[in-house]
Amino acid sequence: MIVLGIETSCDETAAAVVDAERRIRANVVLSQLDEHTPHGGVVPEIAARAHLEHLDGLVRQAMREAGVDFRDLAGIAATGGPGLIGGVIVGMMTAKAIAAALDKPFLAVNHLEAHALTARLTDDLAFPYLLLLVSGGHCQLVAVEGVGRYRRYGTTVDDAVGEAFDKVAKLIGLDYPGGPAVERSALRGDPRRFAFPRPMKGRPDCDFSFSGLKTAVRHAVAGLPAELSERERSDVAASFQAAVAEVLEDRAHRAMARFVAEHGAPAPFVISGGVASNKFLRERLAAACTRGGFRFVAPPPALCTDNAAMIAWAGIERLRLGLVDDLAFAPRPRWPLEEMRAG
Ligand code: KG4
Ligand code: ZN
Repeated sequence: MIVLGIETSCDETAAAVVDAERRIRANVVLSQLDEHTPHGGVVPEIAARAHLEHLDGLVRQAMREAGVDFRDLAGIAATGGPGLIGGVIVGMMTAKAIAAALDKPFLAVNHLEAHALTARLTDDLAFPYLLLLVSGGHCQLVAVEGVGRYRRYGTTVDDAVGEAFDKVAKLIGLDYPGGPAVERSALRGDPRRFAFPRPMKGRPDCDFSFSGLKTAVRHAVAGLPAELSERERSDVAASFQAAVAEVLEDRAHRAMARFVAEHGAPAPFVISGGVASNKFLRERLAAACTRGGFRFVAPPPALCTDNAAMIAWAGIERLRLGLVDDLAFAPRPRWPLEEMRAG
């Protein structure tokens, strides 16, 4: 069973070919970074136009690299949401057109479900497991109990953690996307120089909040010279990252306790989403998992950030259960995981 996957929900145009034996036969990603960097963030209109320009070529490239003929595909999967609507429309229409022309199943994949199921592609995990999804648009702790069966333990009440990284980067004069830049800068910084707050730490639920932390960083930066020195910049970055790590650890511990209470035993703890490529946070969360008796699982960074292999894989998971979508499926800018059903 070979499936073509298409991802266009944000600023990565991607196509991939994956099979049910968990082989990634091709996985091509075109980042639109250069087009968005001058604007300090993703511009939806620019993103949609760029997807339109590049997607057909990327699909052809993925099929060529995989050495697979369109007739050999068992289905065509594309992100159906949540995401920037213009991009989602481009990807879905492309997938629908290919599916219609070949008379093959079309699969509208929930982008969050694709992040949630990636660890089954990379590590062959069995259900259930605990997932920490940390990206530019999302910050959630989820019990993954089956395809289409997700229970959200907590989410952010304001900003996503990747968004906080991006905003802090801007405050200290680092380029978009801020996450990798902040991580690099923090390597040389003193994490104890600024006593930033640890929002939500100690609360009994599993929710997150990052806007207060971001505001605290803004105040600290306002108290520094307008032109930050390299030292000041890395001290802010390191102090901010230390606060984020402590919050994620604390929230993860709450979720692990709830998971054990509900499922009777620890399980794998999976981290996914763009922020999951942060080495410092990975190490801290891995240690937190060991303390909680959970096995830490982190897909390789290239499969944590947005990609189409995860879309193709989610398509395979759904196709195996006969969960094919109608060509009339409408793109969903908002599509919470709890609204998924395995039929
Ligand atoms: O999953 P992703 O590629 O796209 C979304 O679905 O949002 O995540 C992108 C986000 C951006 O906010 C970016 O700054 C953040 O992930 N990110 C990082 C790192 N690499 C990417 N944040 C912290 N440390 C990193 N190394
Ligand atoms: Zn994503």
